[in-house]
Amino acid sequence: MVKLTINTKEGPTVELEVESGDKLRDVLMANKVDLYTTWGKVWSCGGGGQCGTCIVDVKSGADILTERTDAEKKKLSGKPESFRLACQTLVGDGENSGAVTIATKP
Ligand code: FES
Repeated sequence: MVKLTINTKEGPTVELEVESGDKLRDVLMANKVDLYTTWGKVWSCGGGGQCGTCIVDVKSGADILTERTDAEKKKLSGKPESFRLACQTLVGDGENSGAVTIATKP
């Protein structure tokens, strides 16, 4: 299990326990965390790694997450290393555990 803390742009902090290996976007959507800006809601590719609208900022625990995918390397070029695409990021490798903190809509 991974303890996931989400500092939302709107203010409230959300704390979740998620299965290691779960996709970050799926976890956020299932828990009704507002991941997308207004622009992102219009242009979201639906999790395909093509639009770059599902960016989150990983504040801690990045070592628990899976590595950046090729889609992320393309879409996040020039952005801070801590930025990830939620639709491309797995919260753990299926076996590890720990704690991760992210911020939405950086
Ligand atoms: S939802 Fe389009 S890149 Fe993540």
